[in-house]
Amino acid sequence: MRKVKTLGLLGTGVIGGGWAARALHFGIDVIAADVKPEMEAWLRGAVANAEPALARLTSAPLPRKGTLSFTTDLKVMAQRADFIQENIPEQLPLKQRMLAEVSRIAAADVVIASSTSGLTPTDLQAHMTAPERFCVAHPFNPVYLLPLVELVGGEKTSPATIEAAAVFFAYIGMHPLHVRREVPGHLTDRLQEAIWREILHMVNEGVATTGELDDSIIYGPGLRWAAMGTNLIYHLAGGETGMRHMLAQFGPCLKWPWTKLEAPELTETLIDRMVEGTQAQAAGRSIRELERLRDDYLVAIQQTLRQFDIGAGATLRALEARLYRDAVTDPASAAAVGDTAAAVTGDAASAAAGTTRGAGGGAPLRLLETVVRPEWIDYNRHMTDFRYGQLFGNAMDALYRRVGIDEAYRARGHMYYSVESHVLHRGEAKDGDSLYVTTQLLSVDDKRLHVLHRLHRRRDDALIATGEQMHLHVDMAAGKACVVDAAVRARLDAILEEHAKLPRPAEAGRRISLSHQA
Ligand SMILES: NC(=O)c1ccc[n+]([C@@H]2O[C@H](COP(=O)([O-])OP(=O)(O)OC[C@H]3O[C@@H](n4cnc5c(N)ncnc54)[C@H](O)[C@@H]3O)[C@@H](O)[C@H]2O)c1
Repeated sequence: MRKVKTLGLLGTGVIGGGWAARALHFGIDVIAADVKPEMEAWLRGAVANAEPALARLTSAPLPRKGTLSFTTDLKVMAQRADFIQENIPEQLPLKQRMLAEVSRIAAADVVIASSTSGLTPTDLQAHMTAPERFCVAHPFNPVYLLPLVELVGGEKTSPATIEAAAVFFAYIGMHPLHVRREVPGHLTDRLQEAIWREILHMVNEGVATTGELDDSIIYGPGLRWAAMGTNLIYHLAGGETGMRHMLAQFGPCLKWPWTKLEAPELTETLIDRMVEGTQAQAAGRSIRELERLRDDYLVAIQQTLRQFDIGAGATLRALEARLYRDAVTDPASAAAVGDTAAAVTGDAASAAAGTTRGAGGGAPLRLLETVVRPEWIDYNRHMTDFRYGQLFGNAMDALYRRVGIDEAYRARGHMYYSVESHVLHRGEAKDGDSLYVTTQLLSVDDKRLHVLHRLHRRRDDALIATGEQMHLHVDMAAGKACVVDAAVRARLDAILEEHAKLPRPAEAGRRISLSHQA
């Protein structure tokens, strides 16, 4: 299967738009096809709407965004794409017909996947040319923020297709879940539908409103589900003996039964109750407003889970590790670290230095791009104090990776610890501001590293803050300072040589005092 540079989309509604936003954000070009020409404007709007949340997902260096093109001609899309994702309405004959048509045009090494919520791949691939390169790749709305994609092969799907699809989806930050047997509804929709049926029953019988039923999830199980599924949670509920005790205690309830599962008739009364109930929950907020709220908390949850390296947080970490690797090794991701990243295309020393802006002239390293998130704002409506430390810390992480201090280095028991920091505030950072951090090495010796970070606003390059720091190289097991690895030191020296040509920053070496200071 080929390397994916261009993703082809067939159908650009809610799901096609979500795929476009995710792929573009992670540097993949998108060629989108829809029968309706007016979908181009809609699609561009959907991509723009996704961007604020996507931009806050990670502060790891990102590649240059992909470019989006649109066509109403399916052939143009199928000829240009390296991977095709179909997202047209959930109707088997229509999907079969369109997938067959696409498969006659696309080269045989192009994977063709369907976003279908519940149709089975064997049915979908029935009339395709080279059906072995077809699979279901079922995403979740919003596709640009939820990492899950269920991969399902049909009778004619080759294992290589599932593998290639998994590689591509992981590359754009997703968690491919291989559904080993095809069943209608795959795994997740089957589970979701079971809950939904019970909701419809309870609303129908007047047991509860839609709002009350949603409360029964969001204040309880919903919080647990974000990182542990029903099974592991029930294992915990069984006490020391886990699932065995849980089944002994609650197993009999399964026979009572608490649930009905067979869906009730969708009468007009039931439809009205569902619609009125959800309108009451929306409380006058538009779909767009609610989407923004949903996107903000989805980003925040993933960042929290990232700290625990669990579930979607582990996926985010894996994505970030890949982005950091690529920012150093892949010239195509030069935009990752701003203008100065052009240096990664140069020789090894200048790549490590990242400073070759012009002959003979150094420049501070531009190591971090980020956007101020709503939860970073304090009651004064600007970015709160400790976030400055976080951003300078993230810039240090990027510097460490650049000079070869990575997971393997830390596993050997060595790392730099910060021993002194001084933040000087020059301006305010507001919610949604795009920021970047540059870092200048001031001095390096066997054990110490002295740096000055500058935090700038991207819009006008205004200086928001500086952070001067001293870092000490330590042997973590011994709890003592020790000499830095020679290869790391050589890379730091290469950067320092460039940075020594820069004027010494006025902010360096300041102390805090009420009296006039030198
Ligand atoms: N909406 C969800 O939450 C969700 C989640 C996961 C998967 N899915 C699946 O994704 C698919 C698309 O769902 P959606 O919600 O985006 O639908 P949608 O109605 O929002 O979009 C479908 C798009 O397909 C276009 N289209 C129709 N026929 C076409 C054709 N012959 N060629 C090209 N374009 C065509 C339409 O113009 C429309 O823009 C469905 O299979 C659905 O089951 C939906």
